[in-house]
Amino acid sequence: MTDTATIDPRARAPKPAHVPDSLVRDIDMYALDGIEQGVHEAWLEIVKGAPDLVWTPLTGGHWIAMSGSAVKEIYEDPTRFSSEVIFLPKEAGEKYAMVPTRMDPPEHTPYRKLLDSALNPARIRELEEMVRKAAVDLVEEIAPRGECDFATDYAKKFPVRVFMALAGLPLEDAPMLAKFAEDMTRPHGNTPEEMAACLDAANQGFFTYVEPIIAARKGGAGKDLITTLVNGSINGASMPHDKELGLIALLLLGGLDTVVNFLSFMMIYLARHPEKVAEVRGNDIKLLRGVEELFRRFPVVSEARMVAHDQSYRGVELKRGDMILIPTQLPGLDASENPDPLDLDWERLPRHATFGGGPHRCVGLHLARMEATVTLQEWFKRIPAFRLADGCNPVYQSGIISSAENVRLVW
Ligand code: HEM
Repeated sequence: MTDTATIDPRARAPKPAHVPDSLVRDIDMYALDGIEQGVHEAWLEIVKGAPDLVWTPLTGGHWIAMSGSAVKEIYEDPTRFSSEVIFLPKEAGEKYAMVPTRMDPPEHTPYRKLLDSALNPARIRELEEMVRKAAVDLVEEIAPRGECDFATDYAKKFPVRVFMALAGLPLEDAPMLAKFAEDMTRPHGNTPEEMAACLDAANQGFFTYVEPIIAARKGGAGKDLITTLVNGSINGASMPHDKELGLIALLLLGGLDTVVNFLSFMMIYLARHPEKVAEVRGNDIKLLRGVEELFRRFPVVSEARMVAHDQSYRGVELKRGDMILIPTQLPGLDASENPDPLDLDWERLPRHATFGGGPHRCVGLHLARMEATVTLQEWFKRIPAFRLADGCNPVYQSGIISSAENVRLVW
C-alpha cells in the first residue's frame, strides 16, 4: 500500500450520479495493491469475490471489468464498446493518435487488411533465420558469464533487434524509441493532465521520428515493413499522411514494449520453477505445443474501451463516454476457464485474451509467438539449470503494459 500522506496525491474524480456506491473501489491501474508479488498475482487478489463491473475514482474515474468473461465480451463487441479512446486516464487516451487502434469497424477494416498482409504467418516464417540469429548472438554473449540481468541483457534487446531489422531501422535509435514506448504505456504524473502531457510528448516523439523515414520510403521498392505499409492502399487510395504516421508509430510501440516485458515475466517464473524447465528442455514438441500456455500465464496489456451509447450491461447502467478498463490478465487467470491458473501447465489447452479479441486482436501475435519459442529453444541449448540470484526481488510496475525489471539470474 502507498502512504497517501507522503507520496501519491493522484487526483480522485467525483463519482458520477449513475454509479452506485456499492460498486466503488479504489483500484489504481498504475500502482496495483499487492504488485510486489507480481502483476498477475495482484490482479487475482483484486478480483476475488468482486462483481463483474466496479468503478474507481482513480486515473480519471473509470469502470473496470472484473471477470474474464466480461473482458472477452467487451473486446468482441465494438458496437457497444468503442475503441474511440483506449488508454486511461481518458485525457491521456484522447492524445494517443496511433492507427488503427482507435478506429472501429468499418473504418478500421482496410487498415487491418493492410497490416495482416504484412504480418501474416507466411511473412513471419520468412523471418525465422533473422530472429534466431538475434537470439543466438545474445545468448552466446551471456552464457559464459554464469549470470545476467535477463531484463536488461536479453529481454530489452532481443525483440528490439528483431523489430528494428524488420522495419529497416538503425539499432542505435532503439533506446530512444524504447523510452517513448515506456512514457506512453506507463506515463508519469500524479494527475490525469500530467499523465496526458507525458503521453502526448511520447506520441509526438514517435511521430517526429517516423516522419522523415516515411517520406524517404514512399514510392520505394524495399522489402522492409515500413516500405511495405506506406506504399499499401486503403480502399484503393493511398493512405492519408496523418494515418501513415499513426500506423508506423503504432508498429514501433507494439513491437517494442510488449514482448520485452512478456519475456521477463516468463523468465522470472521459469527461474523459480526448474521442474517446469526440466519438462521441456530437449523436448521441442512439448515446448512448441506449450508456448501458448506461456501467453495465457503472462499477459501484459491493460487497456480500455469507451461506452458507445447509454446502456445496461450486466445489471449496471453505463453512459456514453464512460471508460471501462479491460485487463487482458483476467480471462487467462480465470479459474473457471483454466483451473489452478497460476500454475504453468505445458499440457493445458489454454483459454486467454492476452492478445485481446475481436477486430483489433493483436496482428503481431505470430511474431510474438516466434520470438518466445526461439528464445526458449536457444536459451535451453546454451544455459544450464538457472535460478534467480540470491536476494533478487524482481520489480514490477503495472500500467497499459506492465513491466518487470531486476531479473538477475545465475547458473
Ligand atoms: C507479447 C506480445 C504482445 C502482446 C501481449 C500484444 C497484445 C496486444 C493486444 C492486447 C492488442 C489489442 C489492442 C486493442 O484491442 O486495442 C494488440 C494489438 C496490436 N498489436 Fe500486439 N501484442 C504483442 C506483440 C506485438 C508485436 C510483436 C507487434 C508488432 C509486430 C504488435 C502489433 C500490434 C498492432 C499493430 C496492434 C493493433 C491491431 C489493430 O488495431 O487491429 N503486437 N496487441
